[in-house]
Amino acid sequence: MRATQEFFTARAAHWETRFPDDAPRYAQAVQALVLAPGAHAVDVGCGTGRAVAPLRAALGAAGQILAIDATPAMLAEAQRLGWGALTALAVADALRLPVPAAWADVVFAGGLLPHLDNPAAALTEWARVVRPGGALAIFHPLSRAALAVRHNHMPSDDDVLAAGRLRALCAAAGWQVTSIDDSAERYLALAVRRSAAAAL
Ligand SMILES: C[S@@+](CC[C@H](N)C(=O)[O-])C[C@H]1O[C@@H](n2cnc3c(N)ncnc32)[C@H](O)[C@@H]1O
Repeated sequence: MRATQEFFTARAAHWETRFPDDAPRYAQAVQALVLAPGAHAVDVGCGTGRAVAPLRAALGAAGQILAIDATPAMLAEAQRLGWGALTALAVADALRLPVPAAWADVVFAGGLLPHLDNPAAALTEWARVVRPGGALAIFHPLSRAALAVRHNHMPSDDDVLAAGRLRALCAAAGWQVTSIDDSAERYLALAVRRSAAAAL
């Protein structure tokens, strides 16, 4: 965790300017969730808050958003950008969310999963906080192959975003993956929280 915080602390101030063309991709990813006004969302690993405005647009004034991140400098940047007016911002670990069970209608995880040492535990925690029938979006504003290049490795079937591995991890954690769009402009996996009965 300390290494992650150091990595993102060093990049926080320039995060938005590094990827200036990504904003529409976040908006389209949130739109793909078809969220109801008044719904509850958790933006895990929210960084500088690039998903916050689209989430607020989808949920309306009655919706509730909790945006958490492990790196205070990323949250400080989100606050500086004004996102604190649209969401609660909190320092927290994506594996221990400060949220009651089944509170959320959706978890949005942008750019996060490959950074986690224990993605299985994260998916389990996100399943805890999402009500049955609720949704999960695992999003990157670029393809899996382009992300692998950015992270200096070749894509492999062992990657957490590889379709087979992600589907297996999600199934074990209580999610059913309904679609994976791995295209030039985005990687977006959508999953539905299974009910306990459906899991039997
Ligand atoms: C690649 S950035 C993505 C930020 C933002 N979601 C976006 O799409 O621009 C990954 C973020 O995840 C955060 N992060 C990494 N591990 C985390 C953890 N265990 N719990 C919470 N946040 C974490 C980092 O601090 C960083 O801000």
